[in-house]
Amino acid sequence: MTIVELIERKRDGGTFTSAEIHWLISTYTADEIPDYQMASMLMAVFLRGLNARELAAWTTEMMHSGEVLDLSGIEKRKIDKHSTGGVGDKVSIPLAPMVAACGIAVPMISGRGLGHTGGTLDKMETIPGLRTALDPAEFKEILGNVGMVMAGQSESIVPADRRMYALRDVTATVPSIDLISASIMSKKLAEDLDGLVLDVKVGTGAFMKHEAAARKLAETMVGIGRSHGTPVVALLTDMNQPLGRQIGNANEIRESIDVLNGNGPEDLVEIVLALGCEMLRLGDAAPDDATARSMLRDTISSGSAMEMFIETVIAQGGDPVVIESPDLLPTAREQWHLEASSSGYVTSCDALELGTAALRLGAGRATKEDDIDPGVGIELAAKYGDEVNAGEVLATVTYNDHAAFETARPMVERAYALGNSRPPDRPLVIGTVR
Ligand code: URA
Repeated sequence: MTIVELIERKRDGGTFTSAEIHWLISTYTADEIPDYQMASMLMAVFLRGLNARELAAWTTEMMHSGEVLDLSGIEKRKIDKHSTGGVGDKVSIPLAPMVAACGIAVPMISGRGLGHTGGTLDKMETIPGLRTALDPAEFKEILGNVGMVMAGQSESIVPADRRMYALRDVTATVPSIDLISASIMSKKLAEDLDGLVLDVKVGTGAFMKHEAAARKLAETMVGIGRSHGTPVVALLTDMNQPLGRQIGNANEIRESIDVLNGNGPEDLVEIVLALGCEMLRLGDAAPDDATARSMLRDTISSGSAMEMFIETVIAQGGDPVVIESPDLLPTAREQWHLEASSSGYVTSCDALELGTAALRLGAGRATKEDDIDPGVGIELAAKYGDEVNAGEVLATVTYNDHAAFETARPMVERAYALGNSRPPDRPLVIGTVR
């Protein structure tokens, strides 16, 4: 078998046996297939796709390209949540401690922000001292002792994905439903989970701009879970506007602390509860949604979720003082307000424009090597459907670099549109795939 033969076959619409997929991924991981040939293969897969059997084999081979966690020593049910990425999406940060406080083990392996979408790790690392690079032994120890852990993917887990993702990123082959599904599911299945809840974002600020594509992605990932024997539930949720009112790394930690203190914005709390319900149900911790919701709400009113969060921060080396005094988290020096040019209703608060603006301010990275500025961000005073008066503040941008602000400013201006009548309500949860 040669790589050229396999590329030719996929290019012409053919299929691979499981043995061929094993050879392809293991040989690439062993550095015996050069990146230029793998890039060509990825483009062939992007254009021709993988059938369900090929996709299951591709995912399994990626998962076994490195270490697979063994969490068998943890008695609790182990349930994780993964988002396909959005703007202002800090859901994992309050969700993990709420679910863990209900007795589910949450072994959360998160990513960094790339492009206009933020990353949980960058946000968590704005807490001074907090480490997200944990080796598998430490990961397991914190999970066992505390009940949750929030870490980055270690070098040893799914190394094939790290290399393939880097190639996809520079060869226009990221937005393939098959490749995204295999990439996400191989990493999640390597966590030795009893169940997984996916938040598949739909809208301008998401990978998937339209419901049909998002549903296909959700169905594909749920199908991979099924073929692997791991129950997966996916919610399709709105990402036409940012989630919550804060965009930016320290900003989003502050807003997550608000949720844990019972003061979170309605839309963010709703998504946290909806995903949390599915996690409790998958973990057999609640018999129905109503019970699950009330258990999750109790973790806020009793303070048990906040205690869980503080314990996790301490276990990962972070300074818990900032949780009690979020003003100590990084901020930026300068502020600019976008004001409403007329009275009316907000008919657009566009996630892509605002996410891209935050990226330009330094909240995200255009390439993996970029540093982020933890203190910059955008606070949304008005969101879709809100009634505003002329001159009222719609959004506040906080920044450090004036030139960066000048490139971001027109994007923030373009993100907002005002109209004379209240726009139709948009559901936050668009659908569920089981
Ligand atoms: N997130 C991933 O982990 N992989 C992809 O391919 C896309 C989003």
